[in-house]
Amino acid sequence: MRKPLIIANWKLNKTKAESKAFVAEFSEKIKDSQNDVDVILSAPFTSIETVVTELKTTGLDKVEVAAQDVSQFESGAYTGEINTAMLKELGVTSVIVGHSERREIFNEDNSVIKAKSEKVLKDSLKLIFCCGESLETREANKTDEWIESQINAVFKELDYSTIKEGQISIAYEPIWAIGTGKTCDSEEANRVIANIRTLVKKLLPENLAETVRILYGGSVKPGTIEEQMAKSDIDGALVGGASLKPEDFSQIVNLSAPKAAVK
Ligand code: 13P
Repeated sequence: MRKPLIIANWKLNKTKAESKAFVAEFSEKIKDSQNDVDVILSAPFTSIETVVTELKTTGLDKVEVAAQDVSQFESGAYTGEINTAMLKELGVTSVIVGHSERREIFNEDNSVIKAKSEKVLKDSLKLIFCCGESLETREANKTDEWIESQINAVFKELDYSTIKEGQISIAYEPIWAIGTGKTCDSEEANRVIANIRTLVKKLLPENLAETVRILYGGSVKPGTIEEQMAKSDIDGALVGGASLKPEDFSQIVNLSAPKAAVK
């Protein structure tokens, strides 16, 4: 069984002061499940250093910090961009790539997402790759082929020779469930995730495929997580809105510990 992975995605929220206050409160609430659940906080760039420092200060040394984006470029004339070296210097260990908000609002297409994914992996950061269908795609019964095309676009022709076990996670986030309060039915989320697992086994070398954790994201709340984690193929969650409050997010983490979720 893969260890549960719960990721907070704060999106465009939390100043440094707010991030510090979050970690102080959160650390008290999850100390007991730190060893049973892998937890990652995806902070905005400006709060990353504060979060890394606060996690150390409060003794949450197992909790890691992710960036929500990164440049696909090495360095040079790319105004506004942040590269992998800058992130690693701050203590970042993972990067979210392919989130639907980056795809839709910032027009990142599969070629940009592939370039970013390759850069992250080549520079020894962990990749949190997101995929998910719109309501239109779902209603047209094209969910499975859509997800397959998003995954193929990145993982079909990747050089796996230098990628390490556990370096790749995938989050299935149906766009219509993000920030809407409409959680995808856990049976359906599990079905799509099981399909993703089959595809991952086809595309990746066996040792890597086994260690890929596949998460569900989209209106995950303390009241939904137990049912989701009890499903056969859901390895964790990528949480937006409910990750902003230490109380809610700590409940989600604590309820994801294997002793809480009976598989
Ligand atoms: P919500 O949990 O707010 O629906 O956001 C999900 C998400 O986009 C996480 O990346």
